[in-house]
Amino acid sequence: MKTSARLGVVKPSATFAMAAEATVLRKQGRDVVDLSVGEPDFDTPEHVKAAAREAMARGLTKYTPIGGTDELKDAISTKLRRDNGLEYGVTEVMASCGGKHALYTAFHALFDEGDEVVLPAPYWVSYPEMLALAGAVPRIVTTAVARGFRMSAEELEAALGPRTVAVILNSPSNPTGAAYSADELRALGEVALRRKLVVVTDDIYERLRPNLVVVNSVSKSYAMTGWRIGYTAAPAELIRAMTVLQGQTTTNPTSIAQAAAAAALTGPQDSVAVMAREFTQRLALMVEGFGTMPGVRLAPPQGAFYVFPDVSGFFGRRGPDGAIGSATDLSMYLLRRAGVASVPGEGFGAPAHVRFSYAAARLLLEEGLARVKRALAALR
Ligand SMILES: Cc1ncc(COP(=O)(O)O)c(C=O)c1O
Repeated sequence: MKTSARLGVVKPSATFAMAAEATVLRKQGRDVVDLSVGEPDFDTPEHVKAAAREAMARGLTKYTPIGGTDELKDAISTKLRRDNGLEYGVTEVMASCGGKHALYTAFHALFDEGDEVVLPAPYWVSYPEMLALAGAVPRIVTTAVARGFRMSAEELEAALGPRTVAVILNSPSNPTGAAYSADELRALGEVALRRKLVVVTDDIYERLRPNLVVVNSVSKSYAMTGWRIGYTAAPAELIRAMTVLQGQTTTNPTSIAQAAAAAALTGPQDSVAVMAREFTQRLALMVEGFGTMPGVRLAPPQGAFYVFPDVSGFFGRRGPDGAIGSATDLSMYLLRRAGVASVPGEGFGAPAHVRFSYAAARLLLEEGLARVKRALAALR
């Protein structure tokens, strides 16, 4: 059957090939340490699950307003005020089916065919594909390991052309874990204000409200990837446009998940701190582990739960299945020969790197690190 030309420009997620291969190996009885995952290995907090059960008991099983219930919108405003010092009213926030859907909807509401959007690389795999679906063209700014993978205000300015309308910031970043300082954000923000760019950010950004689109979700912070609740805070006219699109696509995010997300955002926050502490310890383990592997170069990340070492020192070496010519070859070698799943950097716009997630128990991380070390040392 013919499929649309629109989809012809969209690549499937970079993790798919590795995940498929890992599944095949597991079915063959191989023990695979999965460091490819992009979700916390913690459970959703109990009070959040209780809020979902209670929502069902209260009969909250029907359509809700398109952009989310008043309860959730209030919870989003509360969260933005409490954690980020941002004031957003009820007409300036909306909930969607995960952060990914919030971004997709925002891109469609913001961009026209041929609009250019500055995208610092390495970038999250979905940005270029979602921009392409919205008819927008990424202007990629490749950031340097030496600068901690952060784009400077000068680099942003130099990337701007007459059709550039927006810039995407993702701090802390998936895949590099790089995070911008307040001063760096301010400098980028000044360029954006002067050049009238929309700033789409996955994270806190306090000063440039007029052209700012904040996208966030409960997926990672509250171990709620399966609940599919993300949200956007932006000027009311953009929220109105996004609501029109969402109203003709998903209608509303799931009513029960909305109740749970409201409980996550406004209830006790201790589980977030517990998770963050554990991630900090695991990060130290990963940085130390990769530090003992000759040929691997790793810029220590500041956030998220990934490390993204440069492995290009191994390109040209040989393993039992042939020469390693790329990050994908190396990831595949690690999976097949060492039973460790990772994600190669090509899909993140960083073909010298491989992403390893540390959203896994410490024992698994130690085992994974030991296997990677042995496998890399065996390359000739
Ligand atoms: C940078 C970034 N933004 C957004 C998302 C979307 O998350 P979700 O749709 O699960 O809320 C992810 C998930 O991996 C991500 O890494």
